[in-house]
Amino acid sequence: MNYFLPFTKILLFCVVVILCSLSLPCRGKDTLTLGESLQDGDTLISKGDIFELGFFTPGEPNRRYIGVWYRSFSTKLETILWVANREKPVTNLSGGALALSPDGNLIVTNTGSDMLWSTNISTPISNNQSRIVQLLADGNIVMNNSDGTTVWQSFDYPTDTYIPGMRVGLDLQTGVNQVFTSWRSKTDPAPGNFTLGIDPGRSTQLFVWDGRRPRWRSGRWNGQVC
Ligand SMILES: *[C@@H]1O[C@H](CO)[C@@H](O)[C@H](O)[C@H]1NC(C)=O
Ligand SMILES: *[C@@H]1O[C@H](CO)[C@@H](O)[C@H](O)[C@H]1NC(C)=O
Ligand SMILES: *[C@@H]1O[C@H](CO)[C@@H](O)[C@H](O)[C@H]1NC(C)=O
Ligand SMILES: *[C@@H]1O[C@H](CO)[C@@H](O)[C@H](O)[C@H]1NC(C)=O
Ligand SMILES: *[C@@H]1O[C@H](CO)[C@@H](O)[C@H](O)[C@H]1NC(C)=O
Repeated sequence: MNYFLPFTKILLFCVVVILCSLSLPCRGKDTLTLGESLQDGDTLISKGDIFELGFFTPGEPNRRYIGVWYRSFSTKLETILWVANREKPVTNLSGGALALSPDGNLIVTNTGSDMLWSTNISTPISNNQSRIVQLLADGNIVMNNSDGTTVWQSFDYPTDTYIPGMRVGLDLQTGVNQVFTSWRSKTDPAPGNFTLGIDPGRSTQLFVWDGRRPRWRSGRWNGQVC
């Protein structure tokens, strides 16, 4: 009689282990490796469960975009924080994918080789390295070499939303001015007419531009609040 007790316990243990390992990929995968891709319906979820990366539809159902949103809000569309393929939506719902391409770029494709968006970096993967994409707990998407160096991050390419942790502004060394750009409309994340950024004339003021015309400026910061 007693022989069977350990056996049933072992069996139960095995069943639990199998069930856990089956359900694991569904929750909380936050990385994408070379050769892997994210298809419509798949998402990456950041550690801590705050951010999610996947496909969304702001307007017409056959225009799909890949972006990052807050997981905790039920109205996902209200909280789109970042968009990859702003200008070119995925139109082939079964063919669209976000993938890490063999040349080491994060890309959005419509069908096979029909590329809609790319991180477009030229740093190749050296022979003894591989590359991985991770949605971090702060909402940043990073692309790292296997030695841990980051070769691209979404925080350097904001859409229209500031996320705590982003370094905003004018890089005096490279001359790159990070600006936030409005959506064209509520249903179209393509770059709209309004941008917000730091005055490239180095006046330490924030500007909102409508096209090339300044529409608002913050005033020089005088070291005081208000
Ligand atoms: C859409 O993608 C699927 C899967 O890649 C492909 O078989 C199909 O031909 C594509 N459709 C169009 C219209 O390109
Ligand atoms: C990639 O960069 C090249 C050169 O800077 C540019 O001509 C090309 O349009 C870019 N492609 C994408 C998909 O951004
Ligand atoms: C990879 O190769 C480079 C030179 O090609 C070398 O400097 C580096 O130490 C190597 N890294 C590893 C992890 O082997
Ligand atoms: C990638 O780099 C960031 C720092 O830039 C680090 O926080 C993260 O853990 C790294 N992830 C992987 C998978 O290497
Ligand atoms: C953006 O600017 C263009 C050119 O000035 C104008 O035709 C268009 O109506 C503007 N769009 C919006 C949404 O204001």
